[in-house]
Amino acid sequence: GAGDAAKGEKVFGKCKACHKVDGTNATGPHLDGVVGRAVGSVADFAYSDGVKAHGGVWTIEMLDAWLAKPKDYIPGNKMAFAGLPKDEDRYNVIAYLQSISQ
Ligand code: HEM
Repeated sequence: GAGDAAKGEKVFGKCKACHKVDGTNATGPHLDGVVGRAVGSVADFAYSDGVKAHGGVWTIEMLDAWLAKPKDYIPGNKMAFAGLPKDEDRYNVIAYLQSISQ
């Protein structure tokens, strides 16, 4: 589904407690350029073993699965976030992440 980046920026309000998009880390790694970025690859962020072992690059499909149920998608991860159950919220926030990844 094609998301709406402007709506997604609002959804991203739920992520902002832990994620910045200015190249600096917080509770979570910074998310600029995350679409197409290697999983667990921000050099100065202390990822869980689960995320470090995952491999691959973040595609739209992977982000959709991760954000639906973070706990199930990468076992042992330390993202304390239940997920975004609404498809529309995920599509929109991913469109936003994509808009800041180009
Ligand atoms: C990891 C997205 C909400 C804390 C990640 C990663 C993504 C992501 C894509 C993997 C990054 C990478 O591989 O470099 C999001 C989005 C959110 C959200 C889009 C909102 C919809 C949150 C919240 C928290 C959080 C609310 C804190 C309570 C973390 C942490 C990690 C992480 C600690 C590292 C996980 C690990 O190493 O196991 N997040 N996140 N995130 N996020 Fe979030």
